[in-house]
Amino acid sequence: MSRSIPVSPFDYVVFGGSGDLALRKLIPSLFHRDRDGQIPTESRIIAAARGAGSTDQYRAKVKALLEQRSTTLSGTSVETHNLALDRFLTRLFYIQLDASTDTGWPELTQMLSQQSQRIRVFYLSVGPELFVPIAGRIAAAGLINAEARIVLEKPIGTDLASSRAINTAIAEHFEETKIYRIDHYLGKETVQNLFALRFANSLFEPLWNRDHIDHVQISVAETVGLESRAAYYDKAGAFIDMVQNHLMQLVCLIAMEPPARYEADTIRDEKLKVLRALRTIQPGEWVRGQYASGAMAQTAVPGYRDELGYVSTTETFIALRLGIENWRWAGVPFYLRTGKRLPEKVSEVVVQFKATPHLSLPPDAGPIQSNRLIIRLQPNEGVQLALNLKEPGPGGFRIRSEELDMSFAEAFGTVQPEAYE
Ligand code: BG6
Repeated sequence: MSRSIPVSPFDYVVFGGSGDLALRKLIPSLFHRDRDGQIPTESRIIAAARGAGSTDQYRAKVKALLEQRSTTLSGTSVETHNLALDRFLTRLFYIQLDASTDTGWPELTQMLSQQSQRIRVFYLSVGPELFVPIAGRIAAAGLINAEARIVLEKPIGTDLASSRAINTAIAEHFEETKIYRIDHYLGKETVQNLFALRFANSLFEPLWNRDHIDHVQISVAETVGLESRAAYYDKAGAFIDMVQNHLMQLVCLIAMEPPARYEADTIRDEKLKVLRALRTIQPGEWVRGQYASGAMAQTAVPGYRDELGYVSTTETFIALRLGIENWRWAGVPFYLRTGKRLPEKVSEVVVQFKATPHLSLPPDAGPIQSNRLIIRLQPNEGVQLALNLKEPGPGGFRIRSEELDMSFAEAFGTVQPEAYE
């Protein structure tokens, strides 16, 4: 039975509250949780951002945004959806606030001090250059109570040195258990399902190693381009935006040893062993690309540099080959690729098994393709297993590859919640 576990009342401050991520993902996700009755009435969601604006304006903006959303998601009627939305809007507040000046901080402090014991979440939906200044001001304003947590959106820095500097500075104000580094891929049902698939079935584990697996492919293809994120994306590129976080988490989930328990630290320890076993990528083991102008679904689309308005060498596509140097995976390549403006939006993991050691079938039975386990992360979430079978009928023993194909939507009959929920 699915459960929506109510949480204690909280104050949830979203820095960058009028940005792309907040409006497209965070606020809608909070709305869905509220609609399902998970958010206590007294809770407040405070959007803090640099732009001028008022709570009324912010509520109007969110209302317009969420009104257009499909009501079929929850199977509710338009009336129920709108009622839930109106109730949600009363939980929203807006504060014009600047990370580098005093603007807005007294207002935020005043508002939070009304509920001094309450859980406080500081969600930093801003660029990494603002993490340390904002955390510093949160601390200086005395806003860190016993229940305060800070949430950081990736990328945490731009390289190892800046990442370490951020982590060190944040740790001056928040204990490690109060720091949440978000990777929304881990919130995807299908990504969590990798864990179930591997560790709730005894079928795969004996085969999950170099003796039986030829290679693993992890692909995350997107059709969207730069959207309105030039300032962030051109500094990041596909590697920092997607590989070091989302794709590496997928690598870890596929490659890790079974953890002893389903606990954050135990799982983290096993993932870390995978990361430590990664072989340094050699020249020739990676390819970078950038999308040029062209057409998608018969509509002309500009190239990356046209969208930017200047010449940039940031990659919008990257493919690489990884090796994991341990007993389980030695010699098994992991191929990773991700990019924007690709023909289709699809995220999947393909586990390609080795060929059978000996052909016991007639030589003209046809080409025998090795077995493949395909885990479709999105869209059309599900699992496929390619098997070789005898084609029915007379005329010789012919082998054909067919798939056992399970769609999670059909099997479970529910809509997958958004990862951020
Ligand atoms: C984000 C990246 O983390 O993930 C985006 O910054 C990317 O560039 C997005 O589009 C992909 O997420 P999803 O959930 O659509 O696969």
